[in-house]
Amino acid sequence: MVYFDNAATSYPKPKIVYDKIMEAMTEYGANPGRSGHKKALAISRGIFETRVQLSKLFNIKDPLNIIFTLNCTEALNTAIKGVLKPGDHVITTSMEHNSVLRPIVFLEKLGVEHTIVQGDSKGRINPKDIENSIRPNTKLIATTHISNLTGTIMDIEAIGKIAKKHNILYLVDGAQSAGVYDIDVNSMNIDMLAFPGHKGLLGPQGTGGLYIREGLDLTEIFQGGTGSVSHSLTQPDVLPDKFESGTPNGPGIVGLGAGVKYIMEIGIDNIRKKEEELTKHFIEEALKIEGIKLYGPLEIGLHAPVVALNIKDADSSEISYILDEEYDIAVRPGLHCAPLAHKTIGTFEQGVVRFSFGYENTHEEIEFAVKALKEIAREV
Ligand code: ALA
Repeated sequence: MVYFDNAATSYPKPKIVYDKIMEAMTEYGANPGRSGHKKALAISRGIFETRVQLSKLFNIKDPLNIIFTLNCTEALNTAIKGVLKPGDHVITTSMEHNSVLRPIVFLEKLGVEHTIVQGDSKGRINPKDIENSIRPNTKLIATTHISNLTGTIMDIEAIGKIAKKHNILYLVDGAQSAGVYDIDVNSMNIDMLAFPGHKGLLGPQGTGGLYIREGLDLTEIFQGGTGSVSHSLTQPDVLPDKFESGTPNGPGIVGLGAGVKYIMEIGIDNIRKKEEELTKHFIEEALKIEGIKLYGPLEIGLHAPVVALNIKDADSSEISYILDEEYDIAVRPGLHCAPLAHKTIGTFEQGVVRFSFGYENTHEEIEFAVKALKEIAREV
């Protein structure tokens, strides 16, 4: 199979990730942070090592400011619901995934106001529109780094500056960027960074996390056992325990650490460069095919390895089905859990066929997909 669905989850993972998960499961798959025996300590060390690797990647001073979650959605919910209180106002954009939009809309009934800044037809957000939406009660700005629909890269540095200037918290959804694009929480003024473990960071599903800036007071969603301050009936107030109730996905987190280590060894710049070359190749060739419409900025540096297209007015699910059945090419059609982004680029009815590339993909696979698209475009 040719796998072009890396925006949904990266596949395959580096062998070291599979090996480390298996090692953690079979050799020290105990419960971390609870019992004090050797195997419990070994998995605790493995989990801490992943926090250290992630801290290096995102330039986070204290690894304990990273909390692990099940996925990016849980991290975003933790941030949004942890910060916003009745009477607050939050600014977000029309290019967000439902993992940002749904929690924000949910909070409406608790008295949290919101503004959704509109993107343009290429999915671009003008940071000035965000600044112009600030109200006296604006507490939070929440934006994606990269659109999971159009691959549009947002200027998070500029938005971070605006947030800092107005003393507003900034939450970045790194779902499509973490592990491929540089993220420096300090220089970019990011107060909270949500990331999935299973996409660009090359870990397994069931992993993700949230960076919370030192001193930021968030209310936790869950309470429960943390293996610490067990005499107390109230949740510990220290990171990461405050946000990590219950047994974590130890082997998964160890596997995530192996993924991050792999990225650091290859070099994030080298990973991005290769994915950019694949994207450029695909866009250039796809643009030549009659009847194909591509979305997004279509310019490397502004466009990440996520490419949305349609063939004439054919249903995106039908094209995706043909690619899978007849060519063994895996892509994602439909609305990509981003309905407002689809409305923004005018594809709410048709959906799009989304190709998303990863480090393991090759130029031969791109050529094969282009050939398949040419043939399909002739038929439909
Ligand atoms: N959010 C993931 C995607 O865009 C699952 O496919």
